[in-house]
Amino acid sequence: MEVIIQPTREKAIELSARIIAKQVRNKPDSVLGLATGRTMEPLYDILADMHKNEGLDFSLCRSFNLDEYVGIPGDNKYSYRWYMNHWLFSRINIDIRNTHVPNGVAKDLGAECAAYDALIARLGGIDMQLLGLGEIGHIGFNEPLSSLRSRTREKALTPHTFAQNSPLFDKPEDMPKRALTMGIGTILESRQCLMVVTGEKKADILARSVEGPVTSMVSASALQLHPSAIVVVDEGAASKLTHTDYYRWIFENEPEWQEFR
Ligand code: GLP
Repeated sequence: MEVIIQPTREKAIELSARIIAKQVRNKPDSVLGLATGRTMEPLYDILADMHKNEGLDFSLCRSFNLDEYVGIPGDNKYSYRWYMNHWLFSRINIDIRNTHVPNGVAKDLGAECAAYDALIARLGGIDMQLLGLGEIGHIGFNEPLSSLRSRTREKALTPHTFAQNSPLFDKPEDMPKRALTMGIGTILESRQCLMVVTGEKKADILARSVEGPVTSMVSASALQLHPSAIVVVDEGAASKLTHTDYYRWIFENEPEWQEFR
């Protein structure tokens, strides 16, 4: 795992967008794993700008989103399908038929989830998986006690997650209490993971995820098992980490980061 600390939220988001852009340039038919949440909105703004102003080409990319609410159809503005169309897909040249978000209104949710994992495998696996961090330590909607080998499946959401996300709904009580989410096992199979975390509010849970023990109580800690995980944070989110001098040294000195400094 590598932790990259940036001075501001804006810089952390910009660096993350540049890492994704590099992936797309190096492999134009990349399979991208995508995430939702407030953190990702400015990141998708930058990718849309890169497409418009620098010709960043997504035409051959395929994408898989991490999760979706159960019971909300894709044309509903609270669905993650709607979020992705709005924030990213409608602003870049990806072929919408090559974008995948779990279907939260499928008749058979179990079959939907199994088919989702099978399709990821059929398309060669995810090259780069973008991740946010929930305040409870989840990646996707892998709530505490999610098996570290879990596959895409239906999960009941914790009251904490409900409290974190329900203010985004006009009527908070309308937020579903269940979701479909890629499993931690599914996420760990991606070739590279890129987690983006900003804000002091997440400092504690970030420290537990990165420097704490690997535990199903904090599903993001499973990234410690991934051979190629990058965690990009701002100073606020980094404020409870202990080995920051080392993380900063790596970013300042390792050749792989030269072009990003
Ligand atoms: C939701 C999503 C997560 C995301 C998290 C963080 O719970 N299911 O994938 O990481 O939100 O959201 P935010 O960026 O708004 O803090």
